[in-house]
Formats: sequence, C-alpha cells, structure tokens
Amino acid sequence: MTTAEILAAHDRFVVPTYGRFPLAFVRGRGARLWDAEGREYLDFGAGIAVCALGHAHPALAEALARQAATLIHVSNLYHVELQARLAERIVSLLGGGRCFFCNSGAEANEALFKLARKFGHREGRYEVLTAVNSFHGRTLAGISATGQEKVKAGFEPMMEGFRHVPFNDLAAVEAALSKKTAAILIEGVQGESGIHPASAEYLLGLRDLCDRNHLLLLMDAVQDGMFRTGRFQSWQRLLEGSRDARAAAFLPDGISMAKGLAGGVPMGGVWIRPPHDLLLGPGSHGSTFGGTPLACAAAWAVFEAIEREGLAEHARRMGAHLLDRLRNLASPRVAAVRGLGLMIGIELAQEIPALHAEGKLPSALFTAKLMETGLLVVPAGARTIRFLPPLNVTRAECDEAVEKLARGLASL
Ligand SMILES: Cc1ncc(COP(=O)(O)O)c(C=O)c1O
Repeated sequence: MTTAEILAAHDRFVVPTYGRFPLAFVRGRGARLWDAEGREYLDFGAGIAVCALGHAHPALAEALARQAATLIHVSNLYHVELQARLAERIVSLLGGGRCFFCNSGAEANEALFKLARKFGHREGRYEVLTAVNSFHGRTLAGISATGQEKVKAGFEPMMEGFRHVPFNDLAAVEAALSKKTAAILIEGVQGESGIHPASAEYLLGLRDLCDRNHLLLLMDAVQDGMFRTGRFQSWQRLLEGSRDARAAAFLPDGISMAKGLAGGVPMGGVWIRPPHDLLLGPGSHGSTFGGTPLACAAAWAVFEAIEREGLAEHARRMGAHLLDRLRNLASPRVAAVRGLGLMIGIELAQEIPALHAEGKLPSALFTAKLMETGLLVVPAGARTIRFLPPLNVTRAECDEAVEKLARGLASL
C-alpha cells in the first residue's frame, strides 16, 4: 500500500482516537524508519520511549523468533520459567521484593492502585494523591489518577479516590493528606507534560512523609525507567550527588514499568517492595497475557543487550552531549532545554507566529515541521517537544538530530 492508501484505510476503518501525523512506516533499522515510498526518517521518538534498542535489533529479533518457535503463551494457570527469571533480574536490580507482569503502562498503574487499596483496606483508606500535570494512562482509573483535565473531559464522573497536588511541592502534599490517603504516586520525570524532573529534596521528603504517615510511595516509571535516564530508575539518577544521607537508602514501595521494558513487545510490570509484595494474593489480580513467555523472552533480550552494550552509560553520555549541543543552539525560539539522559524536552518560546493555528498546539505544529526535515520527535504539553531516541543512538545521529532541529527552528 502507498502512504495515501494507508491513511485512507485508517480514516475509513479505525476509530479516530488519535490525532495522527500523516506518515506510515513500513520498515525500521536502529534509529531509522522508512515509509512506503522509501523516504527515510531519523526516529527520535522511538515509539514514545518504547524501542529501547531501536528498530529491528538483531538480538531482540532473534530472541523473539526463537521463543515464537518454542512457546508463545501458556497462561498464568501455570508457572512460567522466563517470567520467574525476569522477575528475579528486576528484583536483583532493586534489592528484594517481587514483580507482577501485565501488558501496558496503564495496566501496571492499575496494579499499583489495587495494591494501594489492599494496603489501606482495613482502615478504610483508599485515596491516592498524584501530581498536577502527571500522566498515568488512559483506563478509567488512569485518567482519574492523571493530573490533566484534557484526558478526563467527556468521561466524567471520574473514579473516586484520586486527588492532584502541585508537583515538586512537599508542603502541598502534606497539606493534602486526609484520613483516607493510602498512597502517593509520582513520576520521577514527568514526561507527557513536558519533561519536568522531581528534585532530590522532593523525593526524599516524600519518602519521609510516607514513612511518618504509613503511606505507600509509588513511582510511575513507565516512561522514565528502563535505563532511559542513564540508570535503571530515574530516581537513582535524580538522587546521584545528593549529600543528604537519606539518598543512599531511598526506595519507593512500588514501581510501575512498561514502554521500553520489552523493547516494543507489549509488556508492563510492577515491582513491589517487601512486606507489601505479598498483599496481592491468589485470586486478587491477574492478566491473561501478563508475563507470557514471548514478552518475557523479549524483555530478557533487552536487559541483556543493555548490559552487554553498556547502554545505561551510553544513554547518560549521549544525553549529556545532546543537552550540551541543544543549549549551545541559543535560538530565540527555544525558551528552555530540560532533561536527564535520553529524555530531553525542548520548550518553545511563547509567541512564534508560524506555530499558531486554530485548534492545534505549537508542539504538534513544530513536530510536523520537523518531519519535513526527516526528524521524528514527540510533542509534550502545549509548547515542548521531546527527544526520546533509542538507548543505542549514535553520537553522529545525535548531531544529525540537532542539525535538523536547528533547520526546523530557522524555518519558523
Ligand atoms: C508516565 C506514564 N505512565 C503511564 C503511561 C501509560 O502507558 P500505556 O500507554 O502503555 O498504557 C504513560 C504513557 O505515555 C506514561 O508516560
């Protein structure tokens, strides 16, 4: 099919829940994508932080083919060797605890919400405090938890038991606590709303607050986890260099993961810290597809490649290089550059006439402009675009992306 034919078939047969850009890709390799007409794009969105190893990574492709020819699915009526081994690997990176596997970020957060409710159930506590401008998924509980009105509109009433407090504001959390509060859920780096990292003081303060008030501290690492910031978890990176003695001992009580976890194969998961890791007992939660041998084999291959190819350290180095190059652009059309590792936000200036169009956000309009240069990025909030390249992106590709961005900015 040609691109035009694919677009027309979408229009005709697919529920239009997404504001899609007029592109359709048929092939990928590393950080490159090609459309049906053979046009090449540099992919700095990586499927919205999903394709951790880029496209068509040979080790991931080989692991998938091998597992597909061996055993794809058996259900959770039985024990699954690869699921147990993957859980052990994640647990060993965090020091104790257990994992539960599902299929997406929203589902991983659902598991955390159910954990919070189980945790507070006997005392009648069920409320989860989340941050303004957070994003936690598109299920009903996910949009109730998300601190952005736009995802809730038209789907009211929201699920009871979620309230939002300003991000990076410890006093606001403390003031919002009620007798019903069971947990606090935050992203280490807010992704969808424009790449806003939590401060070390905020993380450490939340840990104290949760300990003092018998609350669970939950972290949504769906976007910022899986080594994207240069460490397995963003809070490990955010607390680096902190002189506060509490930093070394910091651990949340639960973490949700997805996106990069299996490099593009749909997979979500949660890690739960002891003693809460036994709260969700037999019959309390589940997923037909969760932790299927195929997804676990993919995740295993991703962990192996990250370790073998030193991609955590590489993500940190490439992130620093990109930040440096982006800050040196010194364009009047850029208001700020923020980020950690390979999660970088470029915030556009307030008034750019070329980015004004009825009903369209400047971030989406600029993303479309960058496509003309052959660069794919992801909008975040109204005026920020995100660089979320594969963890194995090369320095030359980073430089190419900055040049394309500079060209896009100059065209405004
Ligand atoms: C922080 C965060 N949480 C949850 C989600 C939802 O994940 P999924 O789309 O896999 O349900 C996302 C997706 O962008 C996210 O960025």
